Amino acid sequence: MAVQFQDSFDRKFYYLRLSITDVCNFRCTYCLPDGYRPSQKNSSFLSLDELRRVVAAFADCGTSKVRITGGEPSLRKDFTDIISMIAEQDGIKKVAMTTNGYRLAKNAQEWRDAGLTNINVSIDSLDPRMFHQITGENKFHQVMKGLDAAFDAGFEQVKVNAVLLKDLNSGELPAFLRWIKDKPIQLRFIELMQTGDMNSLFERHHQSGISIRNHLIANGWIMKVREQSDGPAEVYCHPDYVGEIGLIMPYKKDFCHSCNRLRVSAVGKLHMCLFGDYGVELRDLLQDNTQEPELIARIQGQLANKKQSHFLDQGHTGMTPHLASIGG
Ligand code: 5AD
Ligand code: SF4
Repeated sequence: MAVQFQDSFDRKFYYLRLSITDVCNFRCTYCLPDGYRPSQKNSSFLSLDELRRVVAAFADCGTSKVRITGGEPSLRKDFTDIISMIAEQDGIKKVAMTTNGYRLAKNAQEWRDAGLTNINVSIDSLDPRMFHQITGENKFHQVMKGLDAAFDAGFEQVKVNAVLLKDLNSGELPAFLRWIKDKPIQLRFIELMQTGDMNSLFERHHQSGISIRNHLIANGWIMKVREQSDGPAEVYCHPDYVGEIGLIMPYKKDFCHSCNRLRVSAVGKLHMCLFGDYGVELRDLLQDNTQEPELIARIQGQLANKKQSHFLDQGHTGMTPHLASIGG
């Protein structure tokens, strides 16, 4: 191993979030309410070879998990090849993806066979009409079939992300809990994060996860001890439930202490934080395998600048217009 990626707050980075496209076919109210619009003119997404060089450098510096994100990553025609390429890198033990689920029913098995180990599906509501309202797409049943397909394909646990939205899905906690009673799902409630493009939506719909936490604790749910490689979710389990609940509360004090991930955007910029103000160009060092030492040195140099926190609680949103642009 070359060097272990580590910052000046002793945080080690085992986990790379790799965005491969910022295109999405959904129009989630909190992300791309008007649908996808190309943002960076004349810029193409990293090719399979460029992606391979990114992953190889990270793997050589201690990264063992790669999450493929977007936009919607499965919109890329070479998506299955990307999975296989990542799975083949020495040192990479987990290959995960975050998806809106629209292609799962068709492709879950193919992706599993290519080496995908973990799936996160976004499902913001269990009511098909509310799902349509939030995502802009009438695809609730298709996504649910996709979830079944993922279990059939051999994924043992699937994570489901639901963004908490006051007055939209906030009354659905009992339905969500019933849903995971007998299913190996880790259902993660994510607090809405304010991004650059968002105006009044945040004030109207932001809801804290604290009320859910209180409900869980009052009803016999127990917080699990976190492991080194765990992200910032608080995970709760219950003896009567097969499923688990995760709470992601980015506005909570000390949320960033457990940060163990770095991000590379679809056009090859390294982002220290979802809400960082800038991305660092890597693409010029992704043109040839011999550039790896230089690439590693540039990444390592940037880590010295990684800030301790995202400062979201001070109304800071960085330059991130919406999460599709960098891969939530
Ligand atoms: N706040 C919280 N979660 C968001 N996501 C996208 N935008 C936001 C936001 N502004 C979620 C998606 C997906 C995950 C990658 O991030 O719903 O589940
Ligand atoms: Fe697409 Fe995900 Fe953004 Fe929804 S949240 S519009 S599924 S990228």
